[in-house]
Amino acid sequence: MLKVDGDNLKVFALSSNEPLAQKVADELGVSLTNIGLQRFSDGEIAINIEESVRGVTAYLVQSTVDPVNDNFMELLIMIDALKRSAVKTINVVMPYFGYARQDRKARAREPITAKLVANLIVEAGAHRLTTIDLHAAQLQGFFNIPIDHLTTVNLLASYVNEKFGEKDIVIVSPDHSGVSRARDFAKDYGWPIAILNRKPRPNINTISEVIGDVAGKVAIVVDDIIDTGYRTISSADALIEAGAKEVMSCATHGVLSAHASQRISESVISRLILTDTIQLKEEDMSDKITVLTVAPMLAEAIEAIQNQHSIH
Ligand code: R5P
Repeated sequence: MLKVDGDNLKVFALSSNEPLAQKVADELGVSLTNIGLQRFSDGEIAINIEESVRGVTAYLVQSTVDPVNDNFMELLIMIDALKRSAVKTINVVMPYFGYARQDRKARAREPITAKLVANLIVEAGAHRLTTIDLHAAQLQGFFNIPIDHLTTVNLLASYVNEKFGEKDIVIVSPDHSGVSRARDFAKDYGWPIAILNRKPRPNINTISEVIGDVAGKVAIVVDDIIDTGYRTISSADALIEAGAKEVMSCATHGVLSAHASQRISESVISRLILTDTIQLKEEDMSDKITVLTVAPMLAEAIEAIQNQHSIH
């Protein structure tokens, strides 16, 4: 059992992933704090905290997942409610930080949504953010509050080793930007890595070359996000064509929009391993999908924050 003083700490679940927030609270040995979440008839969000929170440290579990804008607005309104209820500190626990893919002006007249979202969270009154596998680690610099940036690499890699460690594995980055993630994933188990060389936009899912030896091996494609699934499926097709015996896919955040789950079920991918940073819809679950929980990792981070210990 983790050691936290339940009187000084409150865990709150908003709408995006209550089961995960409940698991985190269970790991910490506390109950979720009661809140009332309602809607005005025009759709505006109304929040009421149903017990005193004066002087406590608040941990607010919410990710920006579908419905992205509603969930984000809910978060901002809840931060405001906490601020006005005189809590001591507001810690946002955002297992999946959305709006992160627009993190620079890649073309003229584009927004930088990751910076905008970071500004709004801080401006609303958050004191600290705990998050998992940001789309790019340098997004931490968009916040001028402390950030705990956790990773699921060890969780996913040790699962792969436990279940499939006897196979001839190669870890694959689906593009150049994911190479360090693939390297981290492979390093403790001595697995080789391969990289998929993609044609530049607009043919983003067209692979021109497989760099590395995949023939006869079980290829594990490692990514941060699986959204529509096109990237991981196109990776799998290219790997099979290059001689891989089997292809599995691993990612931290299963966004799974636009019927991705069905597309993956019908693809050559034999197994998809995700975490519960995003709650999967029931209709998206299938025999191919395994979901590992990040709750112990988040609870340990909260314990370390509470007790002012280093997280790593
Ligand atoms: C891209 O930079 C990300 O790391 C993912 O590869 C991407 O978001 C996956 O998108 P999709 O599943 O829609 O192909």
